[in-house]
Amino acid sequence: MNELGRLEDLPLDYRESLQQLNLVPLWPSLRAVMPPHQPRPRTQPVSWQYKTLRPLLMRAGELTPIEKAERRVLVLANPGHGLEKMQASSAIYLGMQLLLPGEWAPSHRHTPNAVRMIVEGEGAYTTVEGEKCPMVRGDLILTPTGLWHEHGHDGTEPVVWLDVLDLPLVYYMEAAYHVDGPRQTVVSSASERRLARGGMLPTPVFARGNSAYPMLRYPWAQARAALETMAATEPHEEVVQITYVNPHTGAHALNILGFYALMLRPGQSVTLPARSPAAIYHLIEGAVDAHVMEQHFALDEADTCCAPGYTPVTLRNRSADAPAFLFLADESPLHQKLGVYERRD
Ligand SMILES: [Fe+2]
Repeated sequence: MNELGRLEDLPLDYRESLQQLNLVPLWPSLRAVMPPHQPRPRTQPVSWQYKTLRPLLMRAGELTPIEKAERRVLVLANPGHGLEKMQASSAIYLGMQLLLPGEWAPSHRHTPNAVRMIVEGEGAYTTVEGEKCPMVRGDLILTPTGLWHEHGHDGTEPVVWLDVLDLPLVYYMEAAYHVDGPRQTVVSSASERRLARGGMLPTPVFARGNSAYPMLRYPWAQARAALETMAATEPHEEVVQITYVNPHTGAHALNILGFYALMLRPGQSVTLPARSPAAIYHLIEGAVDAHVMEQHFALDEADTCCAPGYTPVTLRNRSADAPAFLFLADESPLHQKLGVYERRD
């Protein structure tokens, strides 16, 4: 490959003339923006241990009342992007959010899409466009772009959940903003019960409600049962994984990020192939070793790690007796829609 000319090779007066006219020579930067054969992601393999993060989150509960925080969150930031950028990968934002008994995080809506993966505690709920979604450990709750959402807590112990948003992408697009709103009136609940029969959909003659996002809560009990059934009925299937989808379309539940649950059989090790999107792995249940590039993460329950795109990821269940269950989020829908999705075996 040819060595391209450097910026320093150009005379100073020429560089200054370009700068005054807001012009930039491409060739000194061409290899940086389009490196040969494979991107050079800023996203680094990194992990966040829940047992070290949790005391700091609880302390935030003492230091900052909910009224002063609106959303009490510690952001899981990837140092490869710079902590101040508050991003786990180029398109994924992760935050651990704490809601204490009796607290209320007021209603708002915004352009970025969000999901919640419930980590611990009972008694909290998210109301999305008037649908009250109970927050139970392992549940996935959607708050898609533009939908009103607020969080309340009628229980007695702290509730913590993992927020996953496409905020870095929407912010990069200069399309991120929010609107505050009044407390919602609960008008319905349990879309997951209406839509819980495989292969059968309600067919209202007169359509009502929010048809773009018909299912807002994906209960962990159902996801876990689906994975266990799949492991039992498809013993030769190497990767036991489900995708959270929009039950009306079969497409990904949200437009930009994809969400999945994966089960590792006792003692099982799987290597997921290198694909273009970055991904995050959050351990719901069990004990798992994750290998990403040269990094090794020993994940315990509620730990989270992140892997850049274009690299294989090996997951190993450390238990010989019990299955392990992970929640995954990645940038696949975005890459697929943009036509840049790749898998490299
Ligand atoms: Fe929000």
